[in-house]
Amino acid sequence: MYTVMYSVHRIPVECSWSKVSFAIQQERELHMRTALISDIHGNLEALTTVLEDIGDRSVDKIVCLGDTLGYGPNPAECVDKIADICDWCLLGNHDYGALYEPTNFNAAAEQAAYWTRAQFDAEEDKEVAARRWEFLGGLRVRTQMGDFLAVHGTPRRPINEYLFPDDAINSPVKMKQIFERIPKHSMSGHTHVPGIFTDEPDFYPPEDIDGTFNFENEKHIIINPGSVGQPRDLDPRSSYAILDDEAHTVDFFRLDYDIETVREKICAISDLSNWLGDRLREGR
Ligand SMILES: [Fe+2]
Repeated sequence: MYTVMYSVHRIPVECSWSKVSFAIQQERELHMRTALISDIHGNLEALTTVLEDIGDRSVDKIVCLGDTLGYGPNPAECVDKIADICDWCLLGNHDYGALYEPTNFNAAAEQAAYWTRAQFDAEEDKEVAARRWEFLGGLRVRTQMGDFLAVHGTPRRPINEYLFPDDAINSPVKMKQIFERIPKHSMSGHTHVPGIFTDEPDFYPPEDIDGTFNFENEKHIIINPGSVGQPRDLDPRSSYAILDDEAHTVDFFRLDYDIETVREKICAISDLSNWLGDRLREGR
């Protein structure tokens, strides 16, 4: 007799023999509703708002496509939440920048990276500090989840390369090379612009598909859930997505959050440029 945590309803299920638990495990792997979040960038107000909304939508798990850190005023608090609630989390270029070295960053982003690193160094509770460093040190560059290869950037340059909506029209060779590296489907963040790439190639922003994309008949897709903490599609609301691998749907969500509080926090920190707060208002 032992207990299996069946995550659909977050209810412990007592199993009297191993076949039952194996069947449950199989079902979990076959049908999952997964919340995709990305690019939190130290924005605790946005992350809290998104996690509350996800909590109302009965998902099986939450995964993070990277850039928990950088730009925002609450990197440590965001790491604690992500470490606590996500099944796994990827390494983004701003996580890399804060942990190792900022490469190809503008002046504001570089300064923010050094400030972010200092916040982790300044933690006086050794246990808390060790737990955070262990989590950050274990961030993955890529991982496979069912049919989906997950990266922060692109499958060929998983940390740093951008895949922009315009690439679907202007960069056919780049699109072909990226899709050639994807066994089936993929998911990524990094651009802070939500939508679906197909290998036609094409790009479908959420507003063109009424917020839901059905990929049952698509050979290959790449999902970008947009950014929780710093949207750049001129819509300042937080963005995330839910992938249902049985219904073959991706649902996109946008949420208002307390932008002014984040902006005030940023403006109160001399090492974070005020521009990082202003851009949140404009979603760029
Ligand atoms: Fe980012």
